[in-house]
Amino acid sequence: AHVWQGVINEYRDRLPVTEQTEVVTMGEGGTPLIRARALSELTGSTVWLKFEGMNPTGSFKDRGMTMAITKAKEAGAQAVVCASTGNTSASAAAYAKQAGMRSAVLVPEGKISLGKMSQAVAHGADIIQVDGNFDNCLEVARKLSESYPVFLVNSVNPYRIEGQKTAAFEVVDTLGDAPDIHVLPVGNAGNITAYWKGYREYAQDTPATSGEILPAVATHTPAMWGFQAEGAAPLVLGHPVTEPETIATAIRIGNPASWDTAMAARDESGGLIDSVTDEQILEAHRWLSSREGVFVEPGSAASVAGLLKKARAGEVPSGRTIVATVTGHGLKDPQWAVKGAEAEDARAAEPKRVPFDVVSVAAAL
Ligand code: F0G
Repeated sequence: AHVWQGVINEYRDRLPVTEQTEVVTMGEGGTPLIRARALSELTGSTVWLKFEGMNPTGSFKDRGMTMAITKAKEAGAQAVVCASTGNTSASAAAYAKQAGMRSAVLVPEGKISLGKMSQAVAHGADIIQVDGNFDNCLEVARKLSESYPVFLVNSVNPYRIEGQKTAAFEVVDTLGDAPDIHVLPVGNAGNITAYWKGYREYAQDTPATSGEILPAVATHTPAMWGFQAEGAAPLVLGHPVTEPETIATAIRIGNPASWDTAMAARDESGGLIDSVTDEQILEAHRWLSSREGVFVEPGSAASVAGLLKKARAGEVPSGRTIVATVTGHGLKDPQWAVKGAEAEDARAAEPKRVPFDVVSVAAAL
């Protein structure tokens, strides 16, 4: 049986590494592509969920981080820095430890989930809570990396994009070709940039890192559909948002660093970037857990919220193949599951208490 080696070893020929490169990996990637039965029924298309919560630190960031930390190590770095709404900091902290480096993470005060914060704490990152939002944190992190001997591992680091493009490769490798539509949540816009790069590279003959030409794997590229939270939707509005607000803290971003490449992904793929409300995000979050059996964090559910919105507007074609990425695990931010269940049925959300005997348990069921 094939044992998964992490995205760099699996896609070495398509990534900027040499034989001498010492790969820092925790076996990231190789995440499940899960058939979404209820979404498929609703849309009349076959809908798949790329469940990125199954990465070592619970989000897609690990794909980019293995690459960024590997290159930082190769360059002799001893410390890395990032700004984060939580997942990047969790990933940077873990991979830095794996590489024997220090990490400093800049997070917006009070706006990151407990699960993500506890990861950074557990891995011994230097955590700086900044009195500002993610965009402010990123500005400071960038300046810090320009003036001090620390490597920036946000997605403005091109190695992050290189690592994250492997998710598109995996989708094609699993389905046998590219889907017709790929749906993503969009925050800082690194991931939509990365997927689009991956899909393009797989749809054409591409020179490998080693020099040989790798033949095209896919016959076409998908339309890229990105969804931002309504209170943090600069790409939809066409201008930065100075005070982004959404319950989906992962994507609470007002001035995406990869703005231009996100727009290019939309336009070149014949796709779209739209917004969804917090209510729609929570509804999709609940849909995923209660109908598909997939537990994600709210930010992740923005993709599916967008798909639901478009389906109800009659704008999702039937008979196609659609992949929606769900970017982070539900355990990152579990409070929403409890709240969602309570909102639906307060009594059902309450676990039943029974004495220690099989008759009482059976009676309670
Ligand atoms: N989903 C989750 C769970 C995220 O954590 C993020 C970004 C996104 C979607 C959006 O991806 O930024 O590439 O458009 N989180 C970053 C962080 C900002 O700091 O963890 P994007």
